[in-house]
Amino acid sequence: MPKFKLDDYEIEFSPGETVIQAAERAGRSIPHYCWHPGLSVAANCRMCLVEVMPPPGRPALSLDVLRFDEKKGDYVKAKKPKLQPACQLAASDGMEIKSDTSEHVIEARAAVQEFLLLNHPVDCPICDQAGECRLQDYWLDHSGRSKRMRDEIIHKPKAVDFGPTIVYDAERCIVCTRCVRFCEEVVGDPVLDKRERGNLGEIVLAPGRKLDHAYTLMTEYVCPVGALTAKDFRFKARVWFLKSVKSICVGCATGCNSYTDFDPRDQTVYRYRPRENAAVNRYWMCDEGMLDYQRIRERRILRARVQSDPGASATDALHKAAALLKGPGLAVLLSAEHSSEDNVSVLELGKALGAEQFFMTGRPNGEGDNILRNADKNPNRRGILNLLPTVSSLAALEKAVEAGQVTRVLALGSAVDGSADFLRKVPVVALSVHDGPIAQAARVTLPAASWAEAQGTFTNAAGLSQVSEKAVNPPGDAQPGWRWALHLAGALGVSLPFTKGSEVRARVQPRPSTAPSAQA
Ligand code: SF4
Ligand code: SF4
Ligand code: FES
Repeated sequence: MPKFKLDDYEIEFSPGETVIQAAERAGRSIPHYCWHPGLSVAANCRMCLVEVMPPPGRPALSLDVLRFDEKKGDYVKAKKPKLQPACQLAASDGMEIKSDTSEHVIEARAAVQEFLLLNHPVDCPICDQAGECRLQDYWLDHSGRSKRMRDEIIHKPKAVDFGPTIVYDAERCIVCTRCVRFCEEVVGDPVLDKRERGNLGEIVLAPGRKLDHAYTLMTEYVCPVGALTAKDFRFKARVWFLKSVKSICVGCATGCNSYTDFDPRDQTVYRYRPRENAAVNRYWMCDEGMLDYQRIRERRILRARVQSDPGASATDALHKAAALLKGPGLAVLLSAEHSSEDNVSVLELGKALGAEQFFMTGRPNGEGDNILRNADKNPNRRGILNLLPTVSSLAALEKAVEAGQVTRVLALGSAVDGSADFLRKVPVVALSVHDGPIAQAARVTLPAASWAEAQGTFTNAAGLSQVSEKAVNPPGDAQPGWRWALHLAGALGVSLPFTKGSEVRARVQPRPSTAPSAQA
């Protein structure tokens, strides 16, 4: 493989790669604002400037400049190497590049940083990007000095309502055009554009438009500074209080890789962010997915419920459920909303109780697109099909109930892809997260942990099994579905082929998620 030298490191590259791409892949980050691995190269911020050493025997490319001479108190003529943007510079074999080891690069980065902050309000204490802002990080790493401009800054529009989800602050904007390129190149909706030049530059909406496509939060997420902020997250949390786990979006069958950001102090999830995976979602997520954390708390079932005894305790409910599940005609209703761990546990419990009829349901279909969104709004339909290729539909369960072939149901899940009214005709024991049609029809409901409250394996539409980590503790009496299955097995005196979470997980055999690609 061809190589180039970056400071003291040998970096291998594939033909066609730029210096910044190869360096990022090798874990040697070059500072950058406007470059994003998933977008075209704009090369407008100049933060990634590097010094390219001349080949042996060739003179260096240099520029005539005026440099301030402290002793003379005046500018004097000088020469300095012509620095080049690493984001636009094609890597070539044997090339020698200085980044952190070049005094000219260090000086240029500090100058770019000072320049970008000349008209910036430096309102970090009230900015939601604080703590994860590149202007802050790079100021500390590459500048660290006060700006020298004493004039009033150029004032520009603030708190501009860009649409239902995003607010724009032109004073914080470094006009890197990442947001413009994202809308145009990834979403195919050129709703944003840049107007004016220099210190008057700002981002504007296309006439008559709002930023209202299906990927607006991602548009905000690619902004490296606090110019675009999400209405959903604004003023809700400080990022330095948040912890993150690696999760899988359960908003649809694509299975985008994400981070779940939560505050461990109040066990609250505040947002989802994309996690890079070249094989699934590249760098992106859709709005539906990024806001899906809100569903964790919606219509949440916190306590075990017995329809005929509203005051029943969790123990009472467990024993009532066990009594309802005994006897012939038991069917199992699996849920494509739930992890394979939950589904395999409920399936095994059903089999141990003599069930021979197995069905599957989940959230109804929704809108899909050719970017990421799958019309199947369930994260694990393929996972169930892997467990049970012959599983039948909810409509088939209705027929079996009407025909008297099914006389009791052990159901996992909250939503259904059809009508669940027929479930009221037979005793149903439900393991549900939300108070949906299944829980409302059930004689006994045991509160299940949501996807953010238990580790789980989800197999996406392409057949890739991925693990989503636990972020917060289940609220109230909620427990992972697999644990309820074990409790029920204990109450019924049957044994399951596993006794703890690690054994359940071993049965669903997840394949590790593809390694992340370059850092955005
Ligand atoms: S709003 Fe953000 S992403 Fe868009 S140009 Fe300004 S700084 Fe860049
Ligand atoms: S495309 Fe599907 S999996 Fe990806 S973020 Fe959107 S809802 Fe989640
Ligand atoms: S990253 Fe902006 S010029 Fe290279």
